Formats: sequence, C-alpha cells, structure tokens
Amino acid sequence: MRFKDKVAVVTGAGQGIGEAYAKGLAAEGAALVVAELNAEQGQRVAGEIEAAGGRALFVETDVSNEESTVAMGKAAVEAFGGVDYLVNNAAIYAGMEMYSMLDMPMDYWDRFMRVNVNGALLATRAVYESMTERGGGAIVNQSSTAAWMAAGYYGIAKLALHGITHSLAAEMGWRNIRVNAIAPGPVDTAATRGVVPEGIIDDIVNGLHLKRVGQPTDMVGTCLFLLSDDASWVTAQILAVDGGQIIRA
Ligand SMILES: NC(=O)c1ccc[n+]([C@@H]2O[C@H](COP(=O)([O-])OP(=O)(O)OC[C@H]3O[C@@H](n4cnc5c(N)ncnc54)[C@H](O)[C@@H]3O)[C@@H](O)[C@H]2O)c1
Repeated sequence: MRFKDKVAVVTGAGQGIGEAYAKGLAAEGAALVVAELNAEQGQRVAGEIEAAGGRALFVETDVSNEESTVAMGKAAVEAFGGVDYLVNNAAIYAGMEMYSMLDMPMDYWDRFMRVNVNGALLATRAVYESMTERGGGAIVNQSSTAAWMAAGYYGIAKLALHGITHSLAAEMGWRNIRVNAIAPGPVDTAATRGVVPEGIIDDIVNGLHLKRVGQPTDMVGTCLFLLSDDASWVTAQILAVDGGQIIRA
C-alpha cells in the first residue's frame, strides 16, 4: 500500500496501459482520477476501481485543451483534497492515421502534437501547484521506444516528451516534484493490434531479448516504482521497459 491516502491522476486511463496504471495505483491505496476523453471507457474504469473497493473519479478530459485540463485539476482537488501523482499517458495512438513525414496533412500534425506533446504539459500545469502545497509529488510521462527509431511524427512527439521530462524535472526539483518517463516497447493492447499489422509485431518480438510482446501489466511495476518513494532520488530519467528492444550505451 505505497500510495495509501495519496491521490493520482492518470490521463488516458480508459483502456490499455493507462487502465492498468490506474488499477495498479488503486490496488496500492491511491484515490484515482481517471482523466479520459472517452466517457464510456473512463466511467467503466472508475466504476471497476470502486467495485474493487478503491476510490475513483472519472473526469471527462481533453488533454489538448487547457480549459479542460484546468477543470480536471480543480475536480481532482475538490473530490480528493489535492494531487500527489500524475501519469501523462494519454495520446493519439489507437486509430492513429498513417502518413509519411512528406505527405502528412499539417492539420493532422498540429492535432497530433496538441494531444501527444502539449497534453503532458497542460496536465502538469493543472496539478503541480497542488503537488507543491502537499510537499511534493511525482510525474511519469509515457514515451515509447519509437522515440529512438526515426518513427515519424509518433516518435517525434515522444522525443518531445523526453525534453519536457528533462525541463520539468529541472524546473520543479525545488518543489520536490520528480519527473521521469517510461519508454515501453511493443505492448499488447487493442490500440497496438489495430495500428501495427500482426506480421510486423512478430518481427519486432523476434528482435527482442525477451521473446514475447509486453502486456499492460508488465508496465505497471515500473510506473509505480517511479512514482513511489522507492524512487525518491530519481528524476529526469527515461526508463525503457521493452523486453530488451533498445540497447543504449
Ligand atoms: N501499446 C504499445 O505498444 C505502446 C508502446 C509504447 C508507448 N505506448 C504509449 O502508451 C500510451 C497508452 O498506449 P495504449 O496502447 O494503451 O493506447 P490507447 O490508444 O489505447 O490509449 C490512449 C488513451 O488515451 C485516450 N486519449 C486519446 N486522446 C485523448 C485526449 N485528447 N485527452 C484525454 N485522453 C485521450 C484514449 O481514449 C485512450 O484511452 C500511449 O501514450 C502510447 O503512445 C504504447
């Protein structure tokens, strides 16, 4: 129960890895704010956390919209008294449109970056003051190994999250707020099954040291570690959780 009496916001927690993060945090005692665009899925996850004996609030949130993230932060404070942890997991990934860098409509680039880059910054701005008032906090940004793979606008957005992680960690250390990122390898979610053709997933898995695709549950331990006091002197780090996909000296 590392998160007993603590409050965590997980963006994009309506399905997939975000859902696993939210449920993992709730299982260790955190009250959860499920900040999700998809109301049906967000309500389902919050309901399931409560049915399991936890505390959860669904807040319909568009992380790309400042008014919406500010309202989410206020709702979190009203419901639970403050915020200790934030996981910036929301992204356009399920159903993402596929273009090359040369033919992508610039409108799509703008929308993609508003959600996948600006979203993490806006959600952070919505909760950092509450974290400060409570003596500090921790943030995990959800990157991807795609950041290191010349993977077009998806990878570029994740690289930008690395920069946001480094800059926010530098700016917020004096507030006792730690900021880290997780870079997952291929994880078996409905989004991945929809976006990546099956044969390509098999090829990627063949290249991993651990010859299997990751499950959302494989991601949870690292996220909870980075948020918890077990990582009390860890900040500004990008941690790959990827079955050995990326090896960096
Ligand atoms: N699954 C993988 O293999 C994998 C690998 C590396 C990184 N990631 C990253 O992990 C995260 C979750 O991945 P997933 O597979 O669960 O994908 P997913 O697409 O199922 O999850 C994203 C969630 O974010 C929500 N969302 C989208 N736009 C939003 C917005 N504007 N405001 C609020 N919520 C919004 C979606 O409704 C969804 O619930 C994403 O950041 C993704 O880029 C996934």
